[in-house]
Amino acid sequence: GKQGYPYFMAKEIDEQPTCIRRILSNYLVNNDIEFGFGGTLDDALKNFNRICIVACGTALHAGIMGAQLFKKWTGINVDTEMASEFIYSDTTVGPDTLFIAVSQSGETIDTLEALRKAKEAGALCLAILNVRGSSISRVADYTLYTDAGPEIAVASTKAYTTQMLMFYMLALKSGLVRGTITEEYFEEATSNLRKIPDAMAEVIGQKDAIHKLAKEVITASDLFMIGRGLDYTVLMEGALKLKEISYIHSEAYAAGELKHGPIALISEGTPVIAAVTQTHLISKALSNVKEIRARGANVVLIAKNELKADFSDEYHVIGLPDLDDEYMSFPEIVALQIYSYYVSADKGLDVDKPRNLAKVVTVE
Ligand code: F6R
Repeated sequence: GKQGYPYFMAKEIDEQPTCIRRILSNYLVNNDIEFGFGGTLDDALKNFNRICIVACGTALHAGIMGAQLFKKWTGINVDTEMASEFIYSDTTVGPDTLFIAVSQSGETIDTLEALRKAKEAGALCLAILNVRGSSISRVADYTLYTDAGPEIAVASTKAYTTQMLMFYMLALKSGLVRGTITEEYFEEATSNLRKIPDAMAEVIGQKDAIHKLAKEVITASDLFMIGRGLDYTVLMEGALKLKEISYIHSEAYAAGELKHGPIALISEGTPVIAAVTQTHLISKALSNVKEIRARGANVVLIAKNELKADFSDEYHVIGLPDLDDEYMSFPEIVALQIYSYYVSADKGLDVDKPRNLAKVVTVE
């Protein structure tokens, strides 16, 4: 049941620190990351020079994060594709490819068909799934389970963050076995992973402040989310959350792309969420924020707590716990989930069952 929560989504958002802790305690063994399978998956991670990641919706957003992390920590060539496009497109996937399918349910027909196609082409197939014994697990060569428990709300929350964590662990382990990151870097990384549950819990503790900001957009028809680097990747998922449960049109834009078109959509009062958690990109990201503010946008900044004071005179700020930049995606998405949740709930919508959507999509 909902255990006293008004909606499953609220409960599932709050469960995330526990879900992340569970995965960490299963996979972080003596400061190493162990996937089991007698080390054969580690060998695959060491030897493949090509990865292809395929999924739909939220799971695809986790995959896009995974691709960035593999590139960052291993330099491997990674493609990500929507399952629905992958099935009918020309593909270069073959025996040299590690193919990764991501799915909460393990039953999404497009993702299943994509996996079958990759397997037929000779790729080694890894699945990241939540539901045990699902159809996709029966086709994959290896399955990693996120074990987040049943996700009832149509809008995915804990499935996304646990899928993301799997990619962090896969990319870090790959970097270690391939020698593209040092042991010291790896240790520093695992100590960051261990801080994620508390960081997420801290954001959950700021619910009321986030709720207050969400109230300001319930009558909006459009909302834009802008950021660079990993922020942009997280915002794609944030924008999907908001649109699917609040019915506000929301889009994520890479901040640097704004002036190539989308900035034409900004006018007096347009709500914009700008994420600026990536230290090396912050001055660039802020200059984009100033541009849209000059055009009248109502900006909410998402920034690390250490910078909150610098910005609070000029902007509404959602402050996030100060993890190393690479790990900010976890507290950041929690803030956006909570924000979307309150917009939907305050509009009086059925948060758990948004119109036109099904939890599992079994038709192409
Ligand atoms: C969005 C959402 C969907 C699913 C997508 C894939 O909140 O839940 O976008 O992520 O339909 O579903 P799975 O992961 O079951 O393959």
